[in-house]
Amino acid sequence: MTNILVLHGPNLNLLGVRQPEVYGKMTLDDINQELTKFTKQQKVELRIQQSNHEGDLIDAIHVGRNWADGLLINPGAFTHTSYALRDAIASVALPTVEAHLSNIHAREAFRRHSVIAPVCVGQICGFGWRSYVWGLQALLQHLADG
Ligand code: DQA
Repeated sequence: MTNILVLHGPNLNLLGVRQPEVYGKMTLDDINQELTKFTKQQKVELRIQQSNHEGDLIDAIHVGRNWADGLLINPGAFTHTSYALRDAIASVALPTVEAHLSNIHAREAFRRHSVIAPVCVGQICGFGWRSYVWGLQALLQHLADG
């Protein structure tokens, strides 16, 4: 069994109503269902959490250290600001994929830089909800490669 922690950062609980022209019409529940659907027929267990609070995300990563094989995270705006989140990922040394619904490199200047990316295996952005599914696929493939 491969255990994957999925973390959604701030404001992602509002998906579906939050700037649908940027983030799409799917709700967070819809996206979580797509992730669960993707893991059907595979020996993969997902634990999915959303928080608007930096410390809660850090705590979840610390807990994940004892359970997860990998981390899929959309850190929301913490992507651009949170050295603490970055340090948490580096500290637990869980292979991590960063996913974004929007193409952060094609948006405002402050979104073009991720402080999280350097501690990740890779980043997938710009494909809406599919960024999550493809991020999960990439993470599982990475883990399978050893
Ligand atoms: C986001 C991009 C971030 O810049 C923004 O703050 C978000 C969502 C995305 O998924 O496109 O909250 O992470």
